[in-house]
Order: sequence, then C-alpha cells, then structure tokens
Amino acid sequence: MPRKTINDIQAKTGIEKIICLTAYTAPIARLLDRHVDILLVGDSLGMVLYEYENTLPVTLDQMIEHTKAVMKSTSDSCIIMDLPFGTYEESKEQAFSSALRSIKETNCAGIKLEGGSLIEDTVKHITKRGIPVMGHIGLQPQSIILDGGYKIKGRDKFEWKKYIDDAIALENAGAFAIVLEGMAEQLAVEITNSIKIPTIGIGASAKCDGQILVTEDMLGLTNISPKFVKEYTNLRLPIEKAIKEYVSDVKLEKFPSNQHTYQMKPTIIKKEK
Ligand code: KIV
Repeated sequence: MPRKTINDIQAKTGIEKIICLTAYTAPIARLLDRHVDILLVGDSLGMVLYEYENTLPVTLDQMIEHTKAVMKSTSDSCIIMDLPFGTYEESKEQAFSSALRSIKETNCAGIKLEGGSLIEDTVKHITKRGIPVMGHIGLQPQSIILDGGYKIKGRDKFEWKKYIDDAIALENAGAFAIVLEGMAEQLAVEITNSIKIPTIGIGASAKCDGQILVTEDMLGLTNISPKFVKEYTNLRLPIEKAIKEYVSDVKLEKFPSNQHTYQMKPTIIKKEK
C-alpha cells in the first residue's frame, strides 16, 4: 500500500476524522505507522527527548535526523516535519531554504510552521515552490517568550477575529491543513467552519476535523500533563517493573541465564579436557 498523501488526508475533511500523533524515533514510529494518517515529527521532541525547558533550542539538524529515522521505519503514514524556531522567521527565502533542505534530506511529505497572518507571505512563497505546508495557530509554543507562557486562546470573543483571520490567511497562502492548539471549543468551531482545509486539534475540542497528541503524553511517558492530554495508558509502571526485575536478576546472577549466554564449541571444550 502506498503512503498516505496530503490529498488522501484532505479528502477525509468533514467525512472521517483525521488521526495524527507525533513520532520522533523508529521504535515508536514503527508501532504507530499503520494506525494514523499523519505522523508529525514535532519540535516537542526538544522537551520530550532532550529535557529542554521549551522547544526554542531545537535545531534543524536535530529535526532532520529524527525525521530520517521516522521515514525509514514507516511505510503507510504521511510524515510531516516541524521547522524549529529560528529557521523560518527571518525571511521567506530563509524559510524556503530550511523547508527545501528538510524535504531533500528526509523525503518527508511536508513541513509545519507556527504563525498566522504574519507569515502568510512566507507560506505562499514555500507552497508556490512545491513544498506542502501545515499551519499552526492558537497557542504557539515557539511564541512563549512573546506570549509570557502557554496561554489558552479565544476564551473572550474579542480575541476571535485575529485567529479566524490567521486561519483564512494560511488557507489563502496554500496551507494544506492547520493545527489549532489550546483554544476554546467555540473558536475552534468557528475557524473550522470558516475554512475548507482541515483543522487538526490539540486542546481545541473534538469539533476539529482531526486530532493530534504528543504520543509520549498519551502513553504516560512524560511528567507534564496539560488538561487536554488524555493518558490512555501509563507505561511508566510496566517499564519501572521491568527495570526492577532486571536489577534484581543481575544481582542474583539469574540474568544472563544459559539461554542468553554463548559457550565455546563443544568439540573445543572436549579437546581441552
Ligand atoms: O511539536 C509538536 O509536537 C506539535 C504538535 C503537538 C502539534 O507541534
């Protein structure tokens, strides 16, 4: 079966929910591949894998290496890569060259960047040159310095116009989908109804065309848990249990057992006797 394309994903809009999760490494990507439409190599990897305080220090080199691993270990899902902070804001030329390098080195299907009307020209510049772009508006983790933290948007109606205009600007610029993060359900509904391209929600209610979560959050492998995360399982417990068993086995010489140990060839042992 060929990989899902951006057209396949857009064709689901309003008919079937678009299922997305993040993946940064081969073992996780391999497990998710058959079950999702989009795997996003998100810059959240900086916090999840590297224990950075926020996503700002993540580099393009890091994103590319993780995306290569995700591409190699999957065959079905559509892989999208985040452009990290500082790799697209300076100019549309800088943005295109970062996007081009990402596509050439990883062969992923498209890139995601954060921002609305302010980056309309940038998105247009990239999409016109053949690179699919996913937008990301609402709570933008790359804007936490400017925003003074992670703040939910659209709880007051006077804020709405900005976000609706952002979504329309991204659609006009050629974005194929938009992530709506951390916003009131009513605003997410208004945005979803105002554009034709699909909205993918994270902390933006069930009313979006699709959903995304950070996989490690929903598997219970991270400690930070915003209200919008549902922990579908808590893998910390079985992992810790296995580690404790290993420690005990090593101490008691129960591991490695014969099953996990190499011996000399029997003929050589005989000769030496
Ligand atoms: O970086 C990320 O993982 C994201 C998603 C959670 C939308 O941007």
